[in-house]
Amino acid sequence: MCGIIGYIGKKSTKDILLDSLELLEYRGYDSAGIALFPDGANEPVVNKVAGRVSRLREVCAGLTDEACAGIGHTRWATHGGVSDENAHPHQNGRVTLVHNGIIENYKELVKEYDLKDKLISETDTEVAAAVLNQLYDGDPEKALRELISLLKGTFAFAVIFADQPGKIYAVRNVSPIVVAMTEHGAMLASDVAALGVHAKEYAFLPEYQVACLSSKGIVVHDEKKHEIPLQLMTIDWDTSRGGKGGYAFYMEKEIHEQPDAIKDTVAPHIVDGKTSFEAEGIPNSFFRENQNIVVIACGTAMHAGLIGQQLFHTLANIHTDVAVASEFTYTNPVIKPGTLVIAVSQSGETVDTIEAIKYAKKKGAKVLSIVNVKGSTISDISDYCIYTHAGPEIAVASTKAYTSQLTVFYLLAIHAARLNGLVSEEESSKFLNELQRVPEVIGQILEKKEFVKKMTSKFLLSENAFMIGRGLDYSLLLEGSLKLKEISYVHSEAYASGELKHGTIALITDGIPVVALVTQSALASKEYSNIREVQSRGASMILITRESLYKDMNIPEDDTFILPEMDDMFMPFPAAVVMQLIAYYTSYTKGFDVDKPRNLAKVVTVE
Ligand code: F6R
Repeated sequence: MCGIIGYIGKKSTKDILLDSLELLEYRGYDSAGIALFPDGANEPVVNKVAGRVSRLREVCAGLTDEACAGIGHTRWATHGGVSDENAHPHQNGRVTLVHNGIIENYKELVKEYDLKDKLISETDTEVAAAVLNQLYDGDPEKALRELISLLKGTFAFAVIFADQPGKIYAVRNVSPIVVAMTEHGAMLASDVAALGVHAKEYAFLPEYQVACLSSKGIVVHDEKKHEIPLQLMTIDWDTSRGGKGGYAFYMEKEIHEQPDAIKDTVAPHIVDGKTSFEAEGIPNSFFRENQNIVVIACGTAMHAGLIGQQLFHTLANIHTDVAVASEFTYTNPVIKPGTLVIAVSQSGETVDTIEAIKYAKKKGAKVLSIVNVKGSTISDISDYCIYTHAGPEIAVASTKAYTSQLTVFYLLAIHAARLNGLVSEEESSKFLNELQRVPEVIGQILEKKEFVKKMTSKFLLSENAFMIGRGLDYSLLLEGSLKLKEISYVHSEAYASGELKHGTIALITDGIPVVALVTQSALASKEYSNIREVQSRGASMILITRESLYKDMNIPEDDTFILPEMDDMFMPFPAAVVMQLIAYYTSYTKGFDVDKPRNLAKVVTVE
């Protein structure tokens, strides 16, 4: 996690750094800092604070605009608590640096370089600064190469040396750094989000190569000090946030953007009424040859994979496993010829997913990724990439990216089913018509959001909640439960309804809120029994169901949200939006910062 920015140019370095850090804040918002190298000074001046960039802005109000170089950082704490001292940049001797990643062997380095009494903070980063300072003999590149040869873990560094004014050096392993020449100067950042306002083109800094930014431009050297050309990519998508558009929080705005996100994700994949992935260069044979799928992803993206799994099973008869990316490499996964790995990620930068992809590729798997952020690491290292067209997702809690990921799974599953002769053209076209109805159905849910808001009163008084469902409903509730936990801090658990009686029902006590999601026609009668089981133990029920199943459920109307009717298989879409609204309004009513929940970051670049 953590956001990094660097700038050398004609504009106010201070303003560029602070504005960019605000754009990068979704990578971490525990603390923030900048180092400005004032023209003519002997070393950079560091200002850093625990807290948000807005606080840093206040602290920096009186600082000079005239600087020959500057670096900045927004932190998601790993080693060392949230304090001014632990914030970046860190300074040691002639070295001032910011870092994203984790240096796993920092304790060994402290011993080896006798740093025990020479450090101010508790961070692994300061250790790197101190070691680099000891290695530095006036040749920045040599010192950086020596440093990275000593480090275990992941890192992206931006460094200023006190005797090299007007220059910023950068090097990385796994954690990304992108560089760009703009009309007014050279920039580096941990992702394109911070560059899009200034640049039309950018390049990834290759791993273990050293970049030097100066007023003359950007030069990247390999181990032999040979210059390597930048592989420039065009920023042809909107990296701006466009503000909150009148909504209280980005999350609310993004929930409302789902109809468009889904439309835009479907549109490129229906050609002449049929599914197509030709634009991504994926040959049709690919869906015939690969009869074994493993989905790897984390959090919400993994939950999208769980719905995908049921679609591949039901429609395409393709065996599909879903693996938590951070566990994947430890479980000796079976990868045989014909195993397709589908990696799902909004950011395209989640290190757990990146490591799982690398492992799968080493074992010979083909990797198809479903990614939202263009040009991200995961799209780059995959064999094929399908982009979701959700647009920038700013709120930490994922909403429109999730339903866009689901959309791709629906498209992929019906595509594979059609190519394998398991559905007729007519059935496939009926399926696609229903998929294209999803945006309108979501619109109908959004019209009833005030009713959802009222229903959330049950979560305001309870610290715990349960959610029960079967089949697709259960998979969907895993996501609904995560949403509630992460932004409203209500401890909630989603259970397969049938599993509850094997232990967890012991936790159902008087007044505890239980959400029952009942959308699957064939499973409704079993659900009815499970609802009665928890009700008779005092649960305070919230029912989410559809008109055709409601009449038998015996729950008051005030406690029931009736979803618009769709084919059973498509019910996760409207249900997802109701669960997102439940989480949103619970957090909002409790007065929390919905977009920036505690301890979290939007992009998780540490293992
Ligand atoms: C929760 C959420 C996270 C992410 C997870 C993976 O709302 O957003 O669980 O889904 O951190 O992130 P990506 O999709 O960027 O790989």
